[in-house]
Amino acid sequence: MTGPQTSEGAEALLRIAVAAAAEAGRLLASWRGDERPEVVDTKSSPTDVVTEMDRRSEALITSRIRAHRPGDAVLGEEGGQTAGGPAAHGGDDGLPGRVRWVVDPLDGTVNYLYGLRDWAVSIAAEVDGAVVAGVVEVPRHGETFTAVAGQGAWLHRGEAAVPLHCTSGVPLGQALVGTGFGYDSGRRQVQGEVIAALLPYVRDIRRGGSAAVDLCSVAAGRLDAFYERGLNYWDFAAGGLIAREAGAMVGGLAGQTESTSMAVAAGPGLYQQLDAFLARLNPERDAPRSQERDP
Ligand code: IPD
Ligand code: CA
Ligand code: CA
Repeated sequence: MTGPQTSEGAEALLRIAVAAAAEAGRLLASWRGDERPEVVDTKSSPTDVVTEMDRRSEALITSRIRAHRPGDAVLGEEGGQTAGGPAAHGGDDGLPGRVRWVVDPLDGTVNYLYGLRDWAVSIAAEVDGAVVAGVVEVPRHGETFTAVAGQGAWLHRGEAAVPLHCTSGVPLGQALVGTGFGYDSGRRQVQGEVIAALLPYVRDIRRGGSAAVDLCSVAAGRLDAFYERGLNYWDFAAGGLIAREAGAMVGGLAGQTESTSMAVAAGPGLYQQLDAFLARLNPERDAPRSQERDP
């Protein structure tokens, strides 16, 4: 997507996303934290939990998006894909195609559950399958990360906004590398093997607990690189755009695009080193799932 008209259209989508993410962030932060929010469901494993707050956040975001753009599709982690109704804007919104919103209403649910600070609301807007705008709202840090395709990435704190730039020229041996682990035990076994092989060859490893925050940390130069196997699209749709717009390379291994199999983000140079190192470890595989968590 190119041209001033489409860019204005994407900026209008970003404004909707920023307002919805801020409101959802306030809702999530309003839980006082003197006792844990109730776990109302589990997904891929017994530790892959859903709280009432995940659902309330997604319902709020979806209703705010629908109020502005009833014709758009929404892909939300908790509600799945929902088609839009007839468009109210008559196709005069400056956008060349169909819009879909990709929503993680609470990324870092386990951190949220335990009273840790790294959790976020992540909202991306796609036009014809390409992400054109994204916001990652991190309420406990008072930070909002935004990007519009082709317009750079920004960190907003109160009234201040600063442009984001990832680190560059960091060799693998000096790199602070973020990663995360899935909820499935067999996947984790391989993820543990991969990180054990990588750890001696980097500055250090961080496991923050929110992939959206991790990608924004790459954008802000707080991490030199991030990789994770097995993310869902809503984990990286907004953060991937923000990292890319801050100058990072974002993709998969060996020339693939980022996907639910593997997502990597790092500055140029470091990306190639990390890519080559990880590819040798064949990380896009899973061990058989163990039946019990207790060894
Ligand atoms: C999770 C977080 C975590 C990552 C997991 C994701 P959720 O999302 O992003 O950092 O390691 O793979 O599933 O479940 O908290 O929305
Ligand atoms: Ca997530
Ligand atoms: Ca989530």
